[in-house]
Amino acid sequence: MVQTTHFELQEVFAADGQPGVFGKVATQLMLLHRQVSQRPHPTVLECGVHQGWSTGVLAHACEAQGGVLISLDIDDCADAIQSPVWTFIQTDDSARETVLARAPILRQGIDLMYIDSLHDARHVARLSESYYPLVKQGGWLAFDDVDPGPYLRGRRKDNAEREIAWRGIGQAIQDFFYANEDDLFLEFHFGSTGLALMQKLVPQDHPHQPARAIRLRHTSLRSLAKRLLRRTHPPAPGYREEAI
Ligand SMILES: C[S@@+](CC[C@H](N)C(=O)[O-])C[C@H]1O[C@@H](n2cnc3c(N)ncnc32)[C@H](O)[C@@H]1O
Repeated sequence: MVQTTHFELQEVFAADGQPGVFGKVATQLMLLHRQVSQRPHPTVLECGVHQGWSTGVLAHACEAQGGVLISLDIDDCADAIQSPVWTFIQTDDSARETVLARAPILRQGIDLMYIDSLHDARHVARLSESYYPLVKQGGWLAFDDVDPGPYLRGRRKDNAEREIAWRGIGQAIQDFFYANEDDLFLEFHFGSTGLALMQKLVPQDHPHQPARAIRLRHTSLRSLAKRLLRRTHPPAPGYREEAI
């Protein structure tokens, strides 16, 4: 039975699907719980423990499913929770070989990897690239902090640096996704600071392509002229856009 140090697990279960900021946090954590609860004997890898909110929720699902949870943090978070299925490793999570040496069970495949450590797009990209080959078919890579909304000017957590960093994380996830689009399913959840869930649809050892920066088109003189023309000459009633 999971024992949490800094909060009551029941608070999270009770707030699932509720409005407000804590409701969004809890709903996103419970999305992870539901994914783990659908896998028999899951192996879960968590990057970033701190006070152990996600740790407690993931350990709860692992206990119910006969699984294991390996959590990594650069700081000592060994007292965040207590659970017979939990292993804590104090390490930089990008040190993959150290992690695998300490938790060889990960080599047999990961059902869900949750990334919530260093909020830097390059770090998230590095983790996705290096651990993706260990993710099982049907398993998930889950990314916290993909919604820059709360950090926008005048919003709840107004912070330019974080707005840019969070947008970069979302971009890094899409760069990986579009480089391997046929092999993956990707969903983004906004609200609180956001959660992205990426499912691997192909066998674990299916080779993947490295992430490639996607090229977004920006407003050009031509597109601006078209938009202005639309405004002064709106489409006549019955106008149909060409099917694409
Ligand atoms: C946002 S907190 C994690 C919150 C936690 N998932 C929860 O739900 O309570 C981020 C954590 O990542 C850790 N961290 C930062 N950089 C790291 C790195 N390179 N490797 C491992 N952990 C790191 C920090 O020490 C911090 O505890």
